[in-house]
Amino acid sequence: MFEIDGTVDPATQAALFARVRRHTGIAMAERKWTLLQGRLRRRLQALSLASYRDYLAVLDSSADEVGRFIDLVTTNETSFFRTPRIWDYLWHGFLPAWHGSHPGATLQAWSAAASTGEEAYSLAMLCEEFREKHPDFRYRILGTDIAASVLDTGRAGHYLGRNIDGLRRQRPAMLEKYFRGVDEVYTASPTLRAAVTFRPHNLYQRLDDPTRFDLVLLRNVLIYFDEPGQETVLENVRLSMASRAVLLVGESESLNRLRTGFAYQQPLIYRNERVPA
Ligand SMILES: C[S@@+](CC[C@H](N)C(=O)[O-])C[C@H]1O[C@@H](n2cnc3c(N)ncnc32)[C@H](O)[C@@H]1O
Repeated sequence: MFEIDGTVDPATQAALFARVRRHTGIAMAERKWTLLQGRLRRRLQALSLASYRDYLAVLDSSADEVGRFIDLVTTNETSFFRTPRIWDYLWHGFLPAWHGSHPGATLQAWSAAASTGEEAYSLAMLCEEFREKHPDFRYRILGTDIAASVLDTGRAGHYLGRNIDGLRRQRPAMLEKYFRGVDEVYTASPTLRAAVTFRPHNLYQRLDDPTRFDLVLLRNVLIYFDEPGQETVLENVRLSMASRAVLLVGESESLNRLRTGFAYQQPLIYRNERVPA
């Protein structure tokens, strides 16, 4: 009999939650079983597996399956110009100040839980607008995420539906200028796509890249980790940041209760206070 929709023994549930944590660092509360079950159900059907115990065996013996599991258990919700005050700060505060104090340098920015790339492309659009006013301004953006499937969307730069509607509502001129729409699918311009590189990365590890980033967007991902996990991730990220570089977090996130090398600037905005190793 299929247990896909039925009761699953507590030991199997606990083992699956442990796999979520092991592979992503996400601390999913055990009361969220219905959510986890809902996310895995179709995968079990696709594999013609009769039980979650059988699925555990597949998961534990296949690196490919771990990748699919990560795609399923992560929440990839995002949008263009999410949290407007952050983008106001970047436009009116960060970009002019950074440009003024780094003549001739290239801004290195990292969207550190990039999901499908809307955040990285929002930043790229802002940087393009800034470059129109300051032709000597240069920038590069790295987008990383633990889930491989979302990075494919980012690389392709293909968007549709709700997120395009949101961009059209918020910044119609930018949609017109930086995207080409064919049959409801909008593709980011070659200029934007050339400015952003996407690659997989687990925030529980240090980024394998010598770049010291001037700006890191680590938004709406810390909420999925417990406090020790948040501190680990923040330190890993900080070690890839330039001294005095800026870190932006999500609307419901704060570093206030954590031990980190960041100093509070304004709500959602922090600065790397320690000289990088
Ligand atoms: C809710 S989205 C946030 C997207 C974007 N930063 C924003 O604010 O709109 C969270 C992203 O974090 C990613 N994520 C979760 N755990 C991660 C980890 N350990 N390392 C890297 N990315 C992770 C998920 O795959 C997901 O795409």
